Amino acid sequence: MSKVIVFDHPLIKHKLTLIRDKNTGSKEFRELVTEISTLMGYEVTRDMQLEDIEIETPICKTKSQVIAGKKVGLVPILRAGLGMVDGMLNLLPAARVGHIGLYRDPETFKPVEYYCKLPQDVNERELIILDPMLATGGSATAAIQFLKDRGARSIKLVNLIAAPEGIEAVQKAHPDVDIYVAAVDERLNDHKYIIPGLGDAGDRLFGTK
Ligand code: PRP
Ligand code: URA
Repeated sequence: MSKVIVFDHPLIKHKLTLIRDKNTGSKEFRELVTEISTLMGYEVTRDMQLEDIEIETPICKTKSQVIAGKKVGLVPILRAGLGMVDGMLNLLPAARVGHIGLYRDPETFKPVEYYCKLPQDVNERELIILDPMLATGGSATAAIQFLKDRGARSIKLVNLIAAPEGIEAVQKAHPDVDIYVAAVDERLNDHKYIIPGLGDAGDRLFGTK
């Protein structure tokens, strides 16, 4: 079974409170999502492999460590996942960015695919899927399957807020994918929105609705 890593850092909790608040406007919301994503990125990248190289300081030669291993690919789920890309790129500036377009049908709540553009070498990369909300888990489950169908072998899922139902669905469908979440909320309402959640992440980021 995959791991679920729930963040307990005070800065993340504080910033989450601000984005949950309905009075927080799009500009501040976007800035906060970027900041939370960077803070989460610190932990999401904790298991990256290191290798020793030899360098010369102004004093002497020494061995020191740099990141080795697989290259990273960030995969935001459109639209709302876009809000998390810059925050992650702050830590991983050389990462490639692939996009998966999915929206949730308002009647069936099932994900509908409308776009996909991924790095060619997706099978050689450590992929990090980004989406602020994990509600029923339908979108994340479909996105992971999408990447696996194209050869992906290493995938992590990063969400800001998850419902227990969404975590369970992803773990059941993809027990090899670890899930990083800033908060696990209570449950879903009848419209499959997360309670208390933050509303519609895409609309809050981009000022639509
Ligand atoms: C939201 C969110 C997730 C999805 C989560 O996107 O960003 O992708 O819903 O719900 P699920 O876990 O039940 O699938 P939405 O479909 O509203 O599209 P948008 O980002 O374009 O607004
Ligand atoms: N999508 C959102 O943007 N918010 C939710 O609470 C559920 C799905």
